[in-house]
Amino acid sequence: MKPTDLIQNIQQLVFERFQHEHSGHDHHHIDRVFRMASHLQKKEGGNLEIIQLAALLHDISDHKLNGGKLNDGSRVAKEILQSYNADSVLTEQVCAIIDRVSFKGAMVRDDMPTLEGKIVQDADRLDAMGAIGIARAFTYGGSKGRPPFDPGINPVMHQSFKTYAAGESHTINHFYEKLLLLKNRLHTKTAKLIGEERHEIMVRFLDQFMKEWNT
Ligand code: ADP
Ligand code: NI
Repeated sequence: MKPTDLIQNIQQLVFERFQHEHSGHDHHHIDRVFRMASHLQKKEGGNLEIIQLAALLHDISDHKLNGGKLNDGSRVAKEILQSYNADSVLTEQVCAIIDRVSFKGAMVRDDMPTLEGKIVQDADRLDAMGAIGIARAFTYGGSKGRPPFDPGINPVMHQSFKTYAAGESHTINHFYEKLLLLKNRLHTKTAKLIGEERHEIMVRFLDQFMKEWNT
């Protein structure tokens, strides 16, 4: 199968699977990550086919969407790629990225050894920042029945993926536990530039939110 045919097939399959997802991980998120990762590849280099496939499949079985199973994404992605007879080396390269892409807690290291992986992780993280990031955070929190804010519950700097994934809190805490930390975890120069404005918007939003809360 030509690379473009494989990507188009996977694109269609993924968009169909994410059509009814309403936790901030809908197919528009996948599409934005796909477009941002493709843009970053143009500026930063790397293998476009690996980047585009990993972008499309990066949330295919995320712990937030699959009932809490950690590290299941690469298993599902492998099944899908094999069903399209994708090259086995390509499949391994894509799955290695999916295994590592997710944020796993404030105090948990998240190494990403390849340029392709760094680009997909940057694209995913940029989509959790800025105006869209704010909208997605409250959408996700709402889908879990969480309140926007509760001044009695402080943020936690999680030491492990397990405690991060099991965390129950309000959505404002999520900014301190993850979203404001993303700026310093972006890898590529291009993503860091885009991330600056997105970070500033979140800081301004939080200032204003607290100002209104305390008026
Ligand atoms: P990651 O795999 O790094 O978590 P995703 O693409 O799965 O990235 O996106 C996670 C999205 O879900 C982000 O927009 C993030 O803000 C939102 N999210 C995750 N956990 C929470 C939470 N506890 N409260 C609010 N939003 C959350
Ligand atoms: Ni994602």
